[in-house]
Amino acid sequence: MRPYIYITRKLPDSVIKEMQQKFDVGMWDHEDVPVPKEVLLLEARKADALMTMLSDAINETVLTAGKNLKVVANLAVGFDNIDVKTACREGIAICNTPDVLTDTTADLTFGLLMAAARRIVEAAEVVKEGNWKSWSPLLLAGHDIHHKTIGIVGMGKIGEAVAKRAKGFEMNILYHNRTRKPEVEQQLGAVYASFEELVGKSDYIVCLTPLTEETKNMFTREVFNQMKRSAIFINASRGPVVDEQALYEALAAGEISGAGLDVFEKEPINANHPLLQLPNVVALPHIGSSSVETRTAMMQLCIDNIEAVLEGNKPKTLVNKEWKPLVRV
Ligand code: GLV
Ligand code: GLV
Repeated sequence: MRPYIYITRKLPDSVIKEMQQKFDVGMWDHEDVPVPKEVLLLEARKADALMTMLSDAINETVLTAGKNLKVVANLAVGFDNIDVKTACREGIAICNTPDVLTDTTADLTFGLLMAAARRIVEAAEVVKEGNWKSWSPLLLAGHDIHHKTIGIVGMGKIGEAVAKRAKGFEMNILYHNRTRKPEVEQQLGAVYASFEELVGKSDYIVCLTPLTEETKNMFTREVFNQMKRSAIFINASRGPVVDEQALYEALAAGEISGAGLDVFEKEPINANHPLLQLPNVVALPHIGSSSVETRTAMMQLCIDNIEAVLEGNKPKTLVNKEWKPLVRV
């Protein structure tokens, strides 16, 4: 029998066709609706491999639903939606899609920073809604980006790629990370700072840290309070790293001057959410890695990883590095 792969969201025919050469493929056939839990559970019971989205909760129930599951390939670099501990115990390989999305995500992150700083979205709406009365000296005046200080929280590969862009804008670069990055300090002139120091000194605070028990709710009311009143907060990692109520209060009280958000505590965020009523918030629907080129590369990497595991090889981008295939009898 050919191995069975279940994909939790509709993918392009070309991708499915390639997989069908070697495997039986099932797919949740909707682009905009996540797979319901019950369907996922039924499919997980018979699947040898799952290709999943960051919006799917791959918990113990899913991972232990069947006896055949050998690999979960998540179409994202982040894997906070997956119970990796249980996967390790069950001998299931967990794969993500790092590297191929680094520059694309850094482009979006920097774009979000620029949009928030220069009020690009607000300004574009003024023109399209017919509210542009005349050129005027302080019309939609934003904040400079060049020569300002950027503070990057989470200096992984994406953080580094954002720092490269910041260097091109002649910004001062601070960063905070669990471990210091001497190469980044040398090559880009980035300066390591404690979290408190970074928060207090930066004009742009850019959050790129993965969501873990340690980083959950890292940005509290107190943290926003320590920022400059002119500071702009950018989040392109995961929503739950931020206390969203605290962010709203800080913005509404003028304790910080703006925010650019690609991620939210609950996605999709409700259009009535107080944050979205503020003119100084630029909000995007979690599209950090969403270029056609990169999403295609991410899908290909998921396929390669699934193939590798099902053929008894080590996948290219394994999350649980200690994984060894279990011989199941
Ligand atoms: C997107 O947020 C990802 O983790 O790839
Ligand atoms: C963001 O998702 C990161 O991994 O830095």
